[in-house]
This record gives sequence, structure tokens and C-alpha cells, in this order.
Amino acid sequence: MILDGHSPDAIHQAAVLLRGGGLVAFPTETVYGLGADATSDTAVAGIFAAKGRPSDHPLIVHVASGVAGAEAVSRFAQPLPPFAALLVKAFWPGPLTLIVTRQHGVGAAAAGGQDTIGLRCPAHPVAQALLAACMAQGVPGLAGPSANRFGRVSPTTAAHVQHEFGDDLMVIDGGPCHVGIESTIVDCSRGAPVLLRPGGITRAQIEAVCGERVREPAELAQPDPRASGTLEAHYAPNAKLRLMDARALQTGLDVLGADAAHIAVWSRSLLTSRSQRVRQRRMPDDAVAAAQQLFAVLREFDAGGAKLIWIETPPDSPEWEGVRDRLRRAAAA
Ligand code: TXA
Ligand code: MG
Repeated sequence: MILDGHSPDAIHQAAVLLRGGGLVAFPTETVYGLGADATSDTAVAGIFAAKGRPSDHPLIVHVASGVAGAEAVSRFAQPLPPFAALLVKAFWPGPLTLIVTRQHGVGAAAAGGQDTIGLRCPAHPVAQALLAACMAQGVPGLAGPSANRFGRVSPTTAAHVQHEFGDDLMVIDGGPCHVGIESTIVDCSRGAPVLLRPGGITRAQIEAVCGERVREPAELAQPDPRASGTLEAHYAPNAKLRLMDARALQTGLDVLGADAAHIAVWSRSLLTSRSQRVRQRRMPDDAVAAAQQLFAVLREFDAGGAKLIWIETPPDSPEWEGVRDRLRRAAAA
């Protein structure tokens, strides 16, 4: 069922359910999360089961902001390296996840058995209200991957979540997500900042705060963590997705002519088709707006029965890195 996240009653009900080991989907500024008590390995096992996610893929733990959140961080993590503390100060609450060294004896299931743990303090007021209510119930953090089945498109509305999991799941509605793609992930456990997943907070913003260059996972010798956001094929719609420049798109539409009926197109350029039944949506020229719409557009195309989704390759500039990354992985599926 979907509950209004602005109702204190709903928040309380959700916190009680979470305290008892249940699952609750909740809004964040990036995408909706599927939450469970991060300190309970059995509650967290419920997330893996519901998502169909391999149990060695670690989850992100969400914590409250302010003093309570700082306490929660020290529950889950060993003292942060100085550059990680700077990132916390600059970007929390916000769309940034930090991978840090895990505190002994807590969050093993959430961390997928690794000795590091992902922490994030979301900026969404409904998420913060829920995290505060959970704290009051003695739950210091919520393990929460995106509330979609493994490998599929992340949800940016409460209705998307219900579509993924059905009506039995409690979904707290906080409206459509403003950022629209998942948080930027920076691994802070390897001595220097390593970018594991691009997102709303850009590489340049991270470098400005850390005062050092952000590394690529391959640059440091340790093995790659099993970050599912870093799998080559991910975020997949049902339809086959292809990325093309505007010219190739127009050529494709011209060649297919009236047979192009089952194709859905998302492009910044204006394209024409001889088929009235080609679905065309305009991609915003602005990367932030495009990220906001991306997953909802893919779901809308799927729901409309598209067999093929053709998308104009986004610009090569730094602010488009997150959108380019998601589209590349969706196209690889
Ligand atoms: O914006 C977001 O981050 C959303 C919202 C709900 O907060 N959450 C999200 O969770 O995207 P999920 O599970 O779909 O993606 C989490 C990513 C995965 O790629 C996971 O492997 C990686 O974070 N991750 C988590 N803990 C990790 C760890 N200890 N080491 C390496 N990667 C980790
Ligand atoms: Mg995900």
C-alpha cells in the first residue's frame, strides 16, 4: 500500500514495521529505496530476497543528519579518513554515498560480507523524517538499495515501486525524486577517493572538496568491489535500448518509414518519422533535468509497449557523466 510520507502517523507506522524486521520503501532525492533495519541481518536478508539480488552485493546504509547521524556513522564505520570527513561536511545530507571501513560486528549482511560499508545521508525531508523516527525506535540506520528488482530500472515515484513489488509492500510516498539517478559513490577505504558510480555530485565537485584527484577503480591495486551499479549491464528496460547520434537516429527512422511503429525515441534533436505511432519524447538540453526524467521515460516507453528504445547519445561534457553512465549500462543489457 502507498502511504503519504507527510503524515506523521504513516512515518510512525513505517518505523514500527522496520523495527520489527519488516521492509518499507521510502523516497530519497535520488531514487526510491527498499529499506530494512541495517543492524538486523535477518531484516536485511528480506531485501535480498525481495529484489532477487545476489547476497554478496552490498547495500547502502542510510543515516539521519545532524548529531544523531554522526552517532549512527560511528556505529557502522571506523573513524573516517580526513578527506571522507570533508566530503561529509560538504555534501551531506545529499546524493553522495561513501564506502568506508566497517565497524566490527555490525551490518555484515548489509555490507554483503565485505569489511567496508556504504553510508549515505539522504536530503529528502520524508527520508529524514523516517530515519529520525527509526532512531527513536532504536534503529540507527536503514539498509536501502534502489526499490527495483535486480538489474531493472530504478524507481523515481511511489507508483513505480508498487509496479515492481505489488500492493503488499508498504511504500512511503514523497513525490517524484528530484535528482532522478542514484547517488554518486566514492570509495574512501583505499587511501584516496575512488569514483565507483557517477551521479548528481560531480567528479569536479569531489575533487574541489578533497583537494586531490579522484581515482578510477582500476588505478588502485585492490580488487574491484562487487558494486552492482558498476556491472556492465544494469538499469535495463524491457525493450532493447540503443544509443545513437542524431544523424543515425534520423536515418534509422527514415529507413523504417511507416514500419517504425514500435520504436520509442528520446532525443534532444527534433526528428521526423513517417509513422504516426513512433513515440517521441524530447530529452532536455540540461543534464540535471535529463537525469530527473531518465528512469521515468524508460518506464513510460516500456509501459507503452515499445520494442525498441532509441536514445540520442548525450553530450560528452562532465555534467552528463551520470546520465551517460546509466544509458550505457542500460544499452548493454
Ligand atoms: O541513490 C542511491 O544511492 C539509492 C538510494 C535509495 O539511496 N540507492 C542505491 O542503492 O542506488 P543500490 O543498492 O541500488 O546501489 C548501491 C551501490 C551498489 O552498486 C553497491 O554494490 C554499492 O553501492 N556498494 C554498497 N556498499 C558497497 C561496498 N561496501 N563496497 C562497494 N560498493 C558498495
Ligand atoms: Mg540499484
